[in-house]
Amino acid sequence: KDAPLVLGIETSCDETGVGIVHGTELLFDAIASSVDEHARFGGVVPEVASRAHLEAMVPTIERACREAGVALSDLDGISVTSGPGLAGALMVGVASAKALAVALGKPLYGVNHLASHVAVDIVEHGPLPEPTMAMLVSGGHSSLLLVPDVTHDIRSLGATIDDAAGEAFDKVARVLGLPFPGGPHIDRAASDGQITIDFPRGLSSRKDMERHRFDFSFSGLKTAVTRWVQSEQAAGRDVPVADVAASFQEAVVDILTRKAVLACTEYDVAALQVGGGVAANTRLRAMTQQRCDEAGILLRIPRPGLCTDNGAMVASLGVQMMLKGRPASDLSLPADSSLPV
Ligand code: KG4
Ligand code: ZN
Repeated sequence: KDAPLVLGIETSCDETGVGIVHGTELLFDAIASSVDEHARFGGVVPEVASRAHLEAMVPTIERACREAGVALSDLDGISVTSGPGLAGALMVGVASAKALAVALGKPLYGVNHLASHVAVDIVEHGPLPEPTMAMLVSGGHSSLLLVPDVTHDIRSLGATIDDAAGEAFDKVARVLGLPFPGGPHIDRAASDGQITIDFPRGLSSRKDMERHRFDFSFSGLKTAVTRWVQSEQAAGRDVPVADVAASFQEAVVDILTRKAVLACTEYDVAALQVGGGVAANTRLRAMTQQRCDEAGILLRIPRPGLCTDNGAMVASLGVQMMLKGRPASDLSLPADSSLPV
């Protein structure tokens, strides 16, 4: 039997993503983003995002089908992010997926957003080693996940206890006068800077490593950077933006990669997968690769365009649900903004 052909819909935050995946092959990934509409607010505005999803949904589905050369009637299933995410934004995707599934008479699969970030790697690098350790670092999440099977029994080993990694990048960028979203700007600024300031690594003390072994904390780091910048300004000195960016970035990347590799070693997992918008970070990619090589861990990071939110990740997980014989969702599938992994 031929591999399943699935259309996946993602609307958990500010990207309207529609991807079409055939087995392990990505046919097309269509994306419409409302990020520019949020930029002047310095963060994603839920109401603006929901409205933008409504407007973009039908054209994005049409574009994905056209570019993939697929007719809706060819599909074997529809998958959709049912949570976690912004409630109103999720509802647009879930309602659209239900309508498609009913109209086409095809099964509907509600999937978890965090698991989708892991499943997208299958269209990039092929079947996922089982088990895999996954580090998800985005504007909304910083989590370490033990993944025995991407469709089942994913276990969260730890997560941020305050800000997400991407959120820290965005807030520090603001302090440095860089635009939103700040991650790519800090990445670029850091490439011209030196690591001259030793900023704190959150939850790394001996005591914290007992209670919060695989958790993260970035709000103390953000405060430390803010104080450092303010004291320079108060002293009438120019803020060395590139050096602050490089030093801040080093602190984030050091603690993320240190805990990810430790989790692999302690749980005896030979593969690490990294996803989420922060996985686009140049320094994170380099340091993770180096530390995985030293520890004999296979590292898999999809290309940056698949690390950020997209529809292909949802379609890829939908294919896996079908291949593993997981039950389809029924039409009462709720959008659950705090869906646990
Ligand atoms: O996964 P994503 O597109 O959306 C969600 O939050 O779900 O992640 C966006 C986050 C933002 O905080 C952005 O600043 C950060 O990813 N980001 C980066 C880089 N590119 C995007 N952070 C650090 N370095 C980058 N190159
Ligand atoms: Zn995401």
